[in-house]
Amino acid sequence: MARSVRLVPALLAPVLTLTACGGGVHGTPGGSGVRDPYFPKAGNGGYDVSHYGLRLAYDPDAHRLTGTATLTARATQDLSAFNLDLLGMEVEKVTVGGETARWNRAGQELTVRPHGDIDRDDTFRVTVRYSGAPETVTDPDGSREGWLRTSDGVLALGEPTGSMTWFPGNHHPSDKAAYDLTVSVPRGLRAVSNGELRSETTARSRTTFVWRTGEPMASYLATLAIGRFDISRSRAGGGLPVYTAVDPVEAAASRPVLERIPEVLRWAERRFGPYPFSSTGAIVDRAADLGYALETQNRPVFPGAPGMTLLVHELAHQWYGDSVSPKSWRDMWLNEGFATYAEWLWEEDHGGRSARETFDALYSGDYFATEEAGEAVWAFPPAEPPSAARISEPPVYWRGAMVLEKVRQAVGDEAFWRILKGWAAEYRHGNADTADFTAYVEEQAPGVDFEAVWEDWLYGEGKPERA
Ligand code: TRP
Ligand code: ZN
Repeated sequence: MARSVRLVPALLAPVLTLTACGGGVHGTPGGSGVRDPYFPKAGNGGYDVSHYGLRLAYDPDAHRLTGTATLTARATQDLSAFNLDLLGMEVEKVTVGGETARWNRAGQELTVRPHGDIDRDDTFRVTVRYSGAPETVTDPDGSREGWLRTSDGVLALGEPTGSMTWFPGNHHPSDKAAYDLTVSVPRGLRAVSNGELRSETTARSRTTFVWRTGEPMASYLATLAIGRFDISRSRAGGGLPVYTAVDPVEAAASRPVLERIPEVLRWAERRFGPYPFSSTGAIVDRAADLGYALETQNRPVFPGAPGMTLLVHELAHQWYGDSVSPKSWRDMWLNEGFATYAEWLWEEDHGGRSARETFDALYSGDYFATEEAGEAVWAFPPAEPPSAARISEPPVYWRGAMVLEKVRQAVGDEAFWRILKGWAAEYRHGNADTADFTAYVEEQAPGVDFEAVWEDWLYGEGKPERA
């Protein structure tokens, strides 16, 4: 062992010297992941994407997607090669800076070797031409995501890793970017995505939709729904555009809830601060077996007509999750704990139980119908799910929300409202982890001792002894 360890640098040294003299070969490959504790292959090192330009065409009958993805990125190191995440599909051609690049694939890793090295801090453009039948992924927790076929088209969902089934990219929430998406579908169908619809043109047998997402978006929040939809466009407070797309079968049941989007946003802005994006809305598809909604940016997706609580939850995520995104998948409670607390606050502000009463019901075991469900809340500390399979389990949601109630009790209402808004403002369009959260709270409430709250509620195993 000792021998080979010593031999390697000795052998490499002259090689490196030679190439450095020989003409600009100085880079090293970017990493194949960003060391996410739960999804180590997700994302890639060595560059930072600022923009995705996606041109897609889909035929539901043939189940065939053809695409060209153009990524604009900045190198964060000298790069001889870099990876993109893409699962399934056939890659036809890759260029970097307009020149054909070599590439190879292994699982979800698409390794690109540009013609020449890319210097650190250089901005470069990579295009990937690809086609095929996109896959559906089953998550470690058993849920399905990726490219989900519906009776009249498809629904693309990406939490935590499904977006790599329909476009190549740096698929980790730590690298956010703007998006321009152009999608062509057979005439008669619609394509609905994040951001704002810029144009819609029908020529012969196909309609092309152009969507633009200007504010930074984590790729797991990208969505694409293709099918037959009833469209409604209106304006919320301040002129914010509202665009909803509803499967006709779900239209009647959805209407009374979706009509209240402006009211929910008005309430949320009072509690959480300014809405962080330039449009809003919802997508209601018919996917009853999906079993979950998703806070896709601007326009959350519902698998059927939602109720008010679910609408509040997904809209609250626009602040907590979409604008303030997790640094890694370990930080899920910052998404789900906040969105769950938002449900409690909505109830408190609308003549129902106070958040403290909800907290107390959870602590005493009266909240859920069964003892088993009540116990599940204490299965693990919200800040440290034991595995990737458990990042969407009850402790992340309910116990995560209970952490916020504990903070509220420690600082009092006024300071708590300041913290809720301040957190959304401080990390707006950015990323945060649990340590950022505890540091922020401590900074905002000097003199308050949070030691026991963090230790018992955030990081502690089992049910805390005192409420
Ligand atoms: N984030 C979704 C919500 O609004 C739930 C969800 C869907 C989820 N897919 C997930 C959570 C994957 C964790 C991992 O609650
Ligand atoms: Zn949620």
